[in-house]
Amino acid sequence: MLTEFPTARLLTNRLCDRSLAYGEAQRSILSLAGAAQAQAAISQWDGYAPTPLQSLPSIAAACGVAEVLYKDEGHRFALKSFKALGGAYAVERLVAEHRADGLTVTCATDGNHGRAVAWGAQRAGIRAVIYVHEGVSQGRADAIAAFGAEVRREGAHYDDSVRASAAAAAANGWHIISDTSWPGYEETPKAVMQGYAVLAMEVESQGGRPTHVFVQGGVGGLAAGVLSYRWEKLGAARPVMTVVEPDEADCLYESAKAGQLRTASGDLDTIMAGLACGEPSLLAWELLGIGADAFMSIPDAAAIATMRDLAAIGVVGGESGVAGLAGFRIAAASAGMRAELGLTPESRVLVYGTEGATDPVVYRALVGRSPEDVGP
Ligand SMILES: Cc1ncc(COP(=O)(O)O)c(C=O)c1O
Repeated sequence: MLTEFPTARLLTNRLCDRSLAYGEAQRSILSLAGAAQAQAAISQWDGYAPTPLQSLPSIAAACGVAEVLYKDEGHRFALKSFKALGGAYAVERLVAEHRADGLTVTCATDGNHGRAVAWGAQRAGIRAVIYVHEGVSQGRADAIAAFGAEVRREGAHYDDSVRASAAAAAANGWHIISDTSWPGYEETPKAVMQGYAVLAMEVESQGGRPTHVFVQGGVGGLAAGVLSYRWEKLGAARPVMTVVEPDEADCLYESAKAGQLRTASGDLDTIMAGLACGEPSLLAWELLGIGADAFMSIPDAAAIATMRDLAAIGVVGGESGVAGLAGFRIAAASAGMRAELGLTPESRVLVYGTEGATDPVVYRALVGRSPEDVGP
């Protein structure tokens, strides 16, 4: 059953010109060559395997499309989120450029990125100091510490912890491994986003040929990473891409509305913790601002309903992980949104299930069952 969420909003991107070729300006941020390099490195890591690309026929039928493919990042290494591909890859690149002796890396996180950086630092044998904000659950902070990192709590929101980690890095000579970029800080976030492009490469090699992609946005790095790969490769023939955010953390939506970088209109208070970002990544926005077809904002209740409906078919999806699917289900239930996005009974829809139960306590509270009880 599809429930309607009348507060959800869809905005088609008037600055997106699909005939625009992926040019030098875009390639200087992310490229197919960079994606191939990331894939070559990551596929050498112990325990690497492409995550499952699962077809969800009952959801496709309920939504009136031919196919829904769910790329299940709950199975990504020991981290249960796609973030391993970005943060840990950027740490590896850093260590390749510097001698590992005495290196310390730092970052801010809502949970998953810091876990990836901590894991990457542990693999490289270097120190990590990870900044979390007050809203990050204890379970998520503990999971970061379990990879040997020092965890520090600073500030009320993600953007506060970004500033705290930047200040500590400047004071101590540490290296920031941020998933967001700002003027003058670009190389590391490029490596992070380039790692995310591996998701799109895996989908392709698994036979996924979507007509539509719904992908959740925090700072926009994931969306930019997967967009770049298909845009450079397929040009105007690429799938229609919709970026989905929580309505309280809609910085990409607001930026699209204004036609330039904007902060979120909401107070960032959302259960979709990984998406609770108030400011877009500068570099991600340079790609999304002209390359993404549409932006959506959705309420928390839509994510919770989707987590429960996935659990009913044995799929474990975390709060932030299901946002793209939640956005798609809302669009599918609205005649107006279907028309705007060109969703038809022939559409093949890809969503990125970007995390499993990264905090099992939160998962159980929202779904009413433990992740182990729901599925693998
Ligand atoms: C589970 C999950 N999905 C999606 C995202 C969004 O990624 P980005 O901030 O690169 O847009 C995050 C970010 O932390 C996340 O943790």
